[in-house]
Amino acid sequence: MELTQEMSKVEVKGFEAKHYDRLMDLITLGYYPFFIRKAIKNLRLQDGDKVLDMGAGTGRNAVLMRQFVQDRGEIIGVEIGQEMQEQFRNKTAKYSNIKLLNRRIDQFLPFQEEFDVVFISFVLHGFIQPKREIIIQNAYQALKPGGRFAILDYANFDPDKAPWPVRFLIRRVECPLAEDFIRRDTKQMLYAHGFSDFEERYYFGGYIRLLMGKK
Ligand SMILES: C[S@@+](CC[C@H](N)C(=O)[O-])C[C@H]1O[C@@H](n2cnc3c(N)ncnc32)[C@H](O)[C@@H]1O
Repeated sequence: MELTQEMSKVEVKGFEAKHYDRLMDLITLGYYPFFIRKAIKNLRLQDGDKVLDMGAGTGRNAVLMRQFVQDRGEIIGVEIGQEMQEQFRNKTAKYSNIKLLNRRIDQFLPFQEEFDVVFISFVLHGFIQPKREIIIQNAYQALKPGGRFAILDYANFDPDKAPWPVRFLIRRVECPLAEDFIRRDTKQMLYAHGFSDFEERYYFGGYIRLLMGKK
């Protein structure tokens, strides 16, 4: 089967977008808030860090990251979904150092060595491979030397050997691009773009991973 971008579900819209955070909490049986707090803590953001959040969603992650970067830091969310943007603006309105940019992450982004951390959470799996490469290149260019690219997404494993709830999620709930992503070697992808000094943290039985690579 040839994979096309049209198969993707990553551009979340309508009901799913309006209730995105609640749906995540629901499908993880209430575990999502604990998981995402832990994952964002594992980013080890510092007071004053400047963060680019690619495919930023509702702003839930941006608000959590703000606790670490504080007033001196800055978070720029890049997001194209209208419903997502609305929630992002509402959630982050009281923070002048959280900004939103209405731009596609799979096309050239104008940032050059500006960020300490580029974060992309549950987004990269939803693209065909050439677009993933553009996104990784965008992240590389946006990072300061020594900055870190952090991908929170599915880990790499053999879906045929995963338990049925995981297979159901990948094959029935997700799009075929997710399985393609899972079967690849994400670390190798980052390495090919110049990233090194990898760090990994695993969640949900090892099926979700925070992968960080240094520029
Ligand atoms: C599965 S959601 C994840 C949202 C958020 N990162 C999180 O972890 O809660 C994917 C997000 O990526 C956004 N998105 C999809 N394609 C995009 C693109 N080409 N450029 C920018 N944002 C995009 C969607 O609108 C959606 O908000």
